[in-house]
Amino acid sequence: MVSPFDVLDVDEDADEAAIERAYRDRVKEAHPDQGGTVEEFQLVRRAYRELDDRDRNGEADDGTDPADIDLSDDEGEADAVQPVRVEFLDYAAIDDYGWSLDDDDLFRKASHADLDESAHGRLLVHPDESLLEAAENRGFAWPFSCRGGACANCAVYLVEGELSQPTDHIMPEELAERGFRLSCNGYPLSDDLKIVFNVKQLAELDDLILPPGPFTRR
Ligand code: FES
Repeated sequence: MVSPFDVLDVDEDADEAAIERAYRDRVKEAHPDQGGTVEEFQLVRRAYRELDDRDRNGEADDGTDPADIDLSDDEGEADAVQPVRVEFLDYAAIDDYGWSLDDDDLFRKASHADLDESAHGRLLVHPDESLLEAAENRGFAWPFSCRGGACANCAVYLVEGELSQPTDHIMPEELAERGFRLSCNGYPLSDDLKIVFNVKQLAELDDLILPPGPFTRR
């Protein structure tokens, strides 16, 4: 029997803040780029979701006590986690239209601008895909270079939701706090995401960009 509390290593009476902290720590350890596996990573996500979905009485939707949920029962854990919906926007469109990255109406404006479907649209990220892999698997050509956390060519800007970041990444703390993430090894941590891709042309990311090479796209 492995309950969501066991997976996150928190007490059954842990409050929301403690669960959130435990989740952040566990998800880093379980990240595939940190020696974890996709299955372990998704198990941590599932445990957090079970605890996050509790109502005011601490019960799951169906009235179950989360302490009685056995996550070791699930066959094919990765399949048990639903794909994450991502709405994306190309920074080039923001630049062309003179919009701002911080505009609260950014995605509404994008949906009225009749942009090409490669510049603005939605895609699903499956449990075993990084954000960049998901984009590529759906036929999009987003920028990248090293694919290993050592540059910002694949950087995206988070407008809504959360994307994981391995601990040995190049992104300075200040930019990470502002919402910049790497798509090549970023796995969604929330059910929905809104991101701006192709932000590598921003001046603040200049020093982190690798010059064009055989493995660089765009
Ligand atoms: S492509 Fe270099 S960190 Fe993602």
